[in-house]
Order: sequence, then C-alpha cells, then structure tokens
Amino acid sequence: MKCKKCGGKAVLELRRHNAAFCADDFRAFFRHHAVETVRRWRMFTRDEPVLVAVSGGKDSLALWDVLIAEGYRTAGLYIDLGIGAYSRESKAKCEAFAAEHAAPLHLVAVAELVGAAIPEVRAATRRPTCSACGLSKRYIMNRTALERGFSVVATGHNLDDEAATLLGSTLRWDASALARQTPVLEATHPKLVRRVKPLFRLSERETAAYAFLSGIDYIVEECPYARGATSITHKEILNRLEDASPGSKASFFLNYLDRARGLFQAREVVELRACVRCGQTTTGEVCAFCKLGDQVRRTARPSEPVPADRGDAPELRGLISDLQAAAEIHAP
Ligand code: AMP
Ligand code: FES
Ligand code: ZN
Repeated sequence: MKCKKCGGKAVLELRRHNAAFCADDFRAFFRHHAVETVRRWRMFTRDEPVLVAVSGGKDSLALWDVLIAEGYRTAGLYIDLGIGAYSRESKAKCEAFAAEHAAPLHLVAVAELVGAAIPEVRAATRRPTCSACGLSKRYIMNRTALERGFSVVATGHNLDDEAATLLGSTLRWDASALARQTPVLEATHPKLVRRVKPLFRLSERETAAYAFLSGIDYIVEECPYARGATSITHKEILNRLEDASPGSKASFFLNYLDRARGLFQAREVVELRACVRCGQTTTGEVCAFCKLGDQVRRTARPSEPVPADRGDAPELRGLISDLQAAAEIHAP
C-alpha cells in the first residue's frame, strides 16, 4: 500500500476516500479537512478567540492540537464532572496537553456550580446520568465562554457521534432534535455563544489515528456511566453498514444536512429570557440548570460508588476503534 501523496509506505487506508497515506501526509490531510470545515461553515476566524471544550479524550484533544498547529487563538475548557478516577485521569490528560503546548486551560467543576458532583446529582435526581451531565456541560460551556470573553465554543464531536445521534433521533422521529442537529449552532441571543463542531466530517477512526500518530496522550476509557448506552449500539450498527459499504456513514449524516434538515427546522420562534437567578437564557423564569441545583439541594442522597473500569469489555468502552486504528497503523 502506497501513500497517495508521496508514494512512500502508507500506514493507514481510508476506504471511503479510496486513499492510503503515510503518517505525515495523513496528519496533513486531517488538518486540512478540519480547517476547511471551519472556513466553509464560517465557524470562526483566525482572530476570534475560541474556547475548545476538552474532555481528555482523543477527539477534543486532536481538535485542540489541530487548531493550535494552524495558528488559531485558542484556550481549553475542562469541566470537572467529579466522576471518580475517570475525572481525575481525564483532567490530568488535559492539564498535561495544555502544559506541553503552553496553552491556557480553564477549569470549572460541576460541584462548584451545582453544589454536588455528577455521582451525587445522579443519586439526587434519578435522571439518566447523561441528561443532567449534558445539561451541566452545555450550561458551563456557554457561561464560561461569556464570562471569559469567548464568542465561540468548539467541541470534538466527530462524524460517528453525529451519525449516531442522527440515527437515534430518526428512530424516534424526534422532529425538534432533528431540527437542532447542526455543526454550527448560531448565537441567537446576546447571552448565547456560537457552538461549533469542526471535526464533524472526520470519523472516529480518523481522529483516533490522528491522535495516535501525533503522539497525543489521551484517556482511552469512556465515562463509566456511558456503559451500555444506546448511542454505543447505534455506533456499532453504523460501523457494520460502513464495513459493508464504505462511505455510508458520511452519506447518512452529510446528506441529512444538505437535503433533509431544512424540512425539520421549526417555524415558530421560541422566546428566550434571562433566568431570574443566574442571568443565562431560559424559556421560563428559572433555567433548567438552576432547577437542577435546587433539586440536588432538596434531595441530597449519598451516591453509589462510581462503577469500576471493566477491562473485559473493550467494545463497551469505545476502545475498539482505537485498537483497530493502532493495529492498522502498525501493519506492514
Ligand atoms: P461526549 O458527549 O462525551 O461525547 O463529548 C463530546 C464533546 O463534548 C467532546 O468532544 C468535548 O469537546 C466536549 N466535552 C465532553 N466532556 C467534557 C468535559 N468534561 N469538559 C469539557 N468538554 C467536554
Ligand atoms: Fe455524562 Fe458520563 S455521565 S459523560
Ligand atoms: Zn439559571
């Protein structure tokens, strides 16, 4: 297998692009794709300060790496969810990356704002963990960006994440979720910042390969509460389709954006106001995040121990794509 660019020995084959690359040319290809996405979708300019939400995983650290290398003005944001060893390790990965690149990193803990970390929130609310966690992350990203002078937040969502979300919403025909799914969520209110996903055209396998070939040290484990999540099943199903017919994942999601999303966009405009407590946007009096804090304070219950990492089920930890990418990279 030869590199499409230089004719040297290829380390990675990309079937959907009908191409193979050596390590250096793959990294250039990946960066070019990400930067072209930022430019074409008008996500941000080189002068605009961008807050990159980093989880310590491969996608968000790969994104930060690309933006630093391409000369964008970035700072990282790590949200400490307080989920035992998982949070401690992922925070350490973000801190090490920021130190190595001499890049600023903002740290915000859920416990500071909600009064309790995610395991206690989970015990108090009895909501599926990730709904409270997702709400907290979106709130903290927006609020931190506003308070610290960023007009845009970038996340590491990749093509697999977006296609799996789309599949989930389609299986439920959830029209409002379908309308909201876009790689650029414009700021429709002075208290909202733009949210963008520059890696949405790159697959999980490609981001894993980029992180690996760039020597990025990231946390391989997924959040222990994500185990058994339906999104993982959806990703597996899409990977089977991709194996049988390379390019189907990209076609599913990218053609949705081109041809179908407009059909779902809501016609009615929701009126946003300032939360009477915290000043962030809400459609009511008090925002969902402040209500979450109230609920946690009212019903404080001791949390159960955070589930331990199970080394025997790699497919449930998103590990498999990392291992596949690494194995292929080392293959002669
Ligand atoms: P996830 O929902 O865990 O798949 O994460 C999607 C994206 O959200 C990641 O690529 C990050 O950009 C961002 N993100 C997730 N967790 C955190 C966190 N703890 N702190 C900051 N950003 C995060
Ligand atoms: Fe949301 Fe784990 S509970 S990332
Ligand atoms: Zn509020």
